[in-house]
Amino acid sequence: MFQTARGTQDILPAEQPYWRFIEKAIAEITRLYGYQRIDTPIFEDTGLFKRAGEYTDMVQKEMYTFDDLGGNSLTLKPEGTPAVCRAYVQHGMQNLPQPVKLYYISPTFRYERPQAGRYRQHYQFGCEAIGDDDPALDAEVIDMAWRFYKSVGLARISLQINSIGCKVCRPLYLESLKKYYRQYEGSLCADCKNRLEKNPLRLLDCKQTSCQSLAEKAPHGIDALCPDCAAHFEKLKKFLGILEIPFQTNHRLVRGLDYYTRTVFEIQPEEEGGQSTIGGGGRYDGLIEEVGGKPTPGIGFATGIERIILNLKKENISVPGAPPLQAYVAYMGQAAGDTAFKVTADLRQAGVSVIAATGSKSLKAQLRQANTLGTVYAVIIGEDEVKAGTATLRRMAGAVQETVPMGELLQRLKCK
Ligand code: HAM
Repeated sequence: MFQTARGTQDILPAEQPYWRFIEKAIAEITRLYGYQRIDTPIFEDTGLFKRAGEYTDMVQKEMYTFDDLGGNSLTLKPEGTPAVCRAYVQHGMQNLPQPVKLYYISPTFRYERPQAGRYRQHYQFGCEAIGDDDPALDAEVIDMAWRFYKSVGLARISLQINSIGCKVCRPLYLESLKKYYRQYEGSLCADCKNRLEKNPLRLLDCKQTSCQSLAEKAPHGIDALCPDCAAHFEKLKKFLGILEIPFQTNHRLVRGLDYYTRTVFEIQPEEEGGQSTIGGGGRYDGLIEEVGGKPTPGIGFATGIERIILNLKKENISVPGAPPLQAYVAYMGQAAGDTAFKVTADLRQAGVSVIAATGSKSLKAQLRQANTLGTVYAVIIGEDEVKAGTATLRRMAGAVQETVPMGELLQRLKCK
């Protein structure tokens, strides 16, 4: 028997109300903040993701990369940001009023070790504001993420922020990090030893206990910021204060992607830690240039929809169910079957949701099915009803039934 591939899952009908609920919240929050939807292809040129983060684990170890029949190397999107930046450049969006604000809901693929909340295919809601480096925009993106979680009912969340500088100040900071860590090279885990020269920032968020205590005492990025980056970070904090969004500055927050500059942030459920991040993002002032555009700043964030749903369930937050079907049309006998077929079609034409009985089930079995489907009414048509031009209308809850002229059926179903 075939099963879903490891790390992937079916989203069954019973789960769909959560997805519809979140999609509705996304439509509302993006409307409020003036974001427009963009959909980019599921796969892109592998080079795009390599450009965006050559030294990241995601690019080196987690991509679903394949050659197509024409010999082109393609990769299933491991995240949305490089694709949106590519689209911004490809479609000349630098000629639009800046910043351009775009959002997406997209399947995303990472070859990770599957566990609760970590899948090989997950869905991201992400937004990108491209074309302005005003720290007010950083605060606005964080505000949007924060309000979004609140709008779906996740009240107990916390925000961590940091600044990892720019191409002026970061190289100096990286040197001081390397210098610090070289003293302890012998006690680093194998991954950190490998990353020390190429990607020393990532040593700060290593999950190994021995590396964590070294990271605690490592030099802080915010102490090494150039005056422009320091001013940017101060303004961001001021704006978050105006918005009354509580935050913690975490010097170990660096994020797992290479392209970030200045602001980085993550949002987590209050009582859990970094492993359960529900959303994160940051500024990427060099990425558009990296993928072939003119130097253009940008900032964005993304959140995993499955992780939001996990948290909604953990918090016992209920979501509206799908509206019930209005009617089930049951029949007895061949002549009644033809009438039932026509009545069903007419009701649907008039906008009433209907499921019709099929096959040769007994009336009892048909009504049992109506019950299981949760329909509000059953419309029962037998040979007597066909002759009299009537139908039996049965309210399933309480099993109350009455005879209704066929001509009044629609009106009766519509006004309930
Ligand atoms: P990210 O932190 O890699 O950022 O992913 C964003 C969110 O996607 C995570 O916070 C998490 O909720 C969810 N997520 C990531 N990996 C998985 C997984 N394997 N299974 C389930 N959920 C997952 C980015 O992708 C950046 N592109 C965000 C961004 C947008 N930065 C700027 N703009």
